[in-house]
Amino acid sequence: MKERVLSGMQPSGLLHIGNYVGALQNWVQLQDVYDCYYCVADWHALTSNYANPSLIKDYSRDLLINFIAAGLDPEKCTVFLQSKVMQHAELHLLLSMMTPLGWLERVPTYKEKQTEVHDKDLNTYGFLGYPVLQAADILIYRAKHVPVGVDQVPHLEFAREIARRFNFLYNTTAMVEPEPLLTEFPKVVGVDGRKMSKSYDNAVYLSDTREVVEKKIKTMMTDPARKRKTDKGNPEQSPVYALHKVFSSKEEQTHVADNCRAAAFGCLDCKGILLQNIFKVMEPIWEKRRELENAPSKLSEIIEAGNIKAQKAASETMEIVRSVMNFA
Ligand code: TRP
Repeated sequence: MKERVLSGMQPSGLLHIGNYVGALQNWVQLQDVYDCYYCVADWHALTSNYANPSLIKDYSRDLLINFIAAGLDPEKCTVFLQSKVMQHAELHLLLSMMTPLGWLERVPTYKEKQTEVHDKDLNTYGFLGYPVLQAADILIYRAKHVPVGVDQVPHLEFAREIARRFNFLYNTTAMVEPEPLLTEFPKVVGVDGRKMSKSYDNAVYLSDTREVVEKKIKTMMTDPARKRKTDKGNPEQSPVYALHKVFSSKEEQTHVADNCRAAAFGCLDCKGILLQNIFKVMEPIWEKRRELENAPSKLSEIIEAGNIKAQKAASETMEIVRSVMNFA
């Protein structure tokens, strides 16, 4: 029996190449080793977008297409949409009953996001309860490992604490304490040199066309001190070089860095090499995206089957939960 893995992504924007190399690529590798459940957490997107939910469906579809196009294989893993598995809502409700408010107020992302975001009112029950919903996502599959980035570690810690509290209160071992499976991934900068993020409008999306990607890369900033082609550059000051570190081979990195320092080639030459390497990553994904776009019923079938598998696994846990809480 393979150990279980669960992870999720929130559909609050289109999937970009930073998400791909940072998380999705790793998910693809894990599907051969573990019994993986991958969730599009569309209810989570509501915690901050409840006033404007119209885009959540499109973003969810974009995630689902990209999951499959990037190589998640429905024969090997379970890909599903959170809002189609009602058991998540039931477990969320039950866990909320035993969640001390102080635990939620202590989760660092809570205050951070509230101070960061000004265009939305995040003073809501649902937003405070974000970690409870995430804990329900994980605990309902009794997942042992949760591949996430370091930013999610407090949420994982919360899920462990809730699992322990549940087991203690109802004198059971039903809940499995999940461990973060920390992925060492490269920092992907956006086309402006800041962290790649949909909120900075600096991302390269998997859904971008070849022309759009080309334009985004060719208009990228480089070393600001290198004004003319004859000026010697410092690759460490260039976000283009930062992307080479993610997408290009070691030899190519040395090659472009040497040429930059010696002013032996121009920034467009350097960008051309980067572009080819980004295309190499994106082309197979584009190819599969096209196939899926042309056969929409195939995608629906894959997701429908994933939802059913997830419902089955989730209802097994809920049977136990109801029983130990005397609601059977
Ligand atoms: N909170 C996660 C994020 O923002 C998304 C998420 C929702 C998740 N449910 C999950 C991650 C369950 C891991 C496990 O990235």
